[in-house]
Amino acid sequence: MVILGIDIGGTGIKASLVETSTGNLISDRYRIPAPDDTSPHKILARIHEVVKHFNWSGPIGVALPEPVRNGVVMSTYNIDPSWLDADASTLFEEITGCPVTVVNDADAAGIAEIRFGEGRNHDGLVFVLTIGTGIGSALFMNGVLVPNTELGHIEINGISAHVRASERTRIEEGLKRSKWVKRLELVLTTYEKLFHPDLFIISGSLSKKADKTFPYINIKTPLVPARFLNNAGIVGAALCAEDQHNKIPA
Ligand code: BGC
Repeated sequence: MVILGIDIGGTGIKASLVETSTGNLISDRYRIPAPDDTSPHKILARIHEVVKHFNWSGPIGVALPEPVRNGVVMSTYNIDPSWLDADASTLFEEITGCPVTVVNDADAAGIAEIRFGEGRNHDGLVFVLTIGTGIGSALFMNGVLVPNTELGHIEINGISAHVRASERTRIEEGLKRSKWVKRLELVLTTYEKLFHPDLFIISGSLSKKADKTFPYINIKTPLVPARFLNNAGIVGAALCAEDQHNKIPA
């Protein structure tokens, strides 16, 4: 099945058509800047633009940088507060005229990696981290997701993991990569102590710089970049939309 996957991030909205039997992107990857004002009508206008670009009229999966339950937005750390408790699926369906499934971006990235990437056939506890504007988490036990875990908000010595070590922090504080890496190491060792995972998979913008970063992170658990790198959110959103589509009786 082909599905339009859209990943709404802090700096950009990225989208592509995804072949869901492989997770491969089968179109151009279209990226437009995220609006500074992230209130619903601004985001909806961008989503409309994306759908028009692809001239798309089938199912859509959208990854949002917030926890989402049954299409409803449960917090607003990264988007305008007026999204709180909004039924994002219905809003996106109204603007696009297509069936839309909305999912947390880290959960989406994790689903892509578990199904077709580094977490495939991996038993035990797989901890997928999306490190970009924020830090998102997705936990899988023997391939089964515990959704909306939000472990980027865990406080370590009074400072949350994402304030300490997200890419946004690195840029805003002008941190040298070597210093940032040590902060990430503290975050990962804290997760190790709390969860004892069997594998860490890193997606988001950091995954594209794995060679410059991972060798300097000293932890016990194996650490790998996401196979889908920064596209894991797009792919996973499309896979979630496919699952949703298959649930609807014909
Ligand atoms: C949000 C998460 C999201 C992560 C990455 C965090 O600030 O709370 O829901 O997955 O950023 O975008």
